[in-house]
Amino acid sequence: MNSSYCYQLLSILILVGLQENFSSLCGADPTDGFTSVTLTEWNFELQKPNDIPLEKRYSFEDGIRRLWVYADDKPHNPTSHTQPRTEVRIRGLDYSSGAWQFEGYGFVPNGTSGATIVQIHGAAKGPTTLILRIFNGNMRYYSADLVATDLYDKWFRVNVIHDVDGGKVTVFIDGIQKFVVKYKGPGDLYFKCGVYAAPANISYYMESRWKDIKIYKKC
Ligand SMILES: *[C@@H]1O[C@H](CO)[C@@H](O)[C@H](O)[C@H]1NC(C)=O
Ligand SMILES: *[C@@H]1O[C@H](CO)[C@@H](O)[C@H](O)[C@H]1NC(C)=O
Repeated sequence: MNSSYCYQLLSILILVGLQENFSSLCGADPTDGFTSVTLTEWNFELQKPNDIPLEKRYSFEDGIRRLWVYADDKPHNPTSHTQPRTEVRIRGLDYSSGAWQFEGYGFVPNGTSGATIVQIHGAAKGPTTLILRIFNGNMRYYSADLVATDLYDKWFRVNVIHDVDGGKVTVFIDGIQKFVVKYKGPGDLYFKCGVYAAPANISYYMESRWKDIKIYKKC
């Protein structure tokens, strides 16, 4: 190999290396510009079928919250006619303006279908601003738009930005923007995650697991 060829090769390698560093340095993260809010266990309110104790539908071990529910379970409160659920409701951080973000690592075992795993509760009209459901391993916005595919049996990072002032909701899976939708107005808004049965096409058993749940607020 002559030396000029060697230099050429070397400079190409350096350029490639620089580019890789450059893109990782500049790679935007969904949490850029947001500040993490300190959470205590009190901020994690649990909702579960009203006639059974929590430990029959929830565990929290080694930092992993496991939530499960059956299609024939009772609603979370005796006077409700809603579908069964076992959910974390983020408590004490209801918002009505600004920009807020939910982050968590989720896991859905193969077999769970027709379950809402993340939601933004509240809207100017209607109960929710955002519902993210798993159907056959794919994530959908309500039962419609496809948000992400092939999510069974693996941990995936979920970031949901609710920009109330900007009027939109953005969903990221594993740091990649997957879905943007217009918001549904202000309201008494808060984040939830877990399992909440969809109106149709639900599996008998539904489960999701969560770790490293964080809430951020735009600085
Ligand atoms: C889920 O389980 C079904 C039935 O056992 C199997 O056919 C399918 O390949 C599994 N899917 C994934 C993504 O593992
Ligand atoms: C339920 O499943 C049926 C049959 O697979 C399908 O045609 C229908 O669109 C599904 N409904 C929903 C709400 O996903």
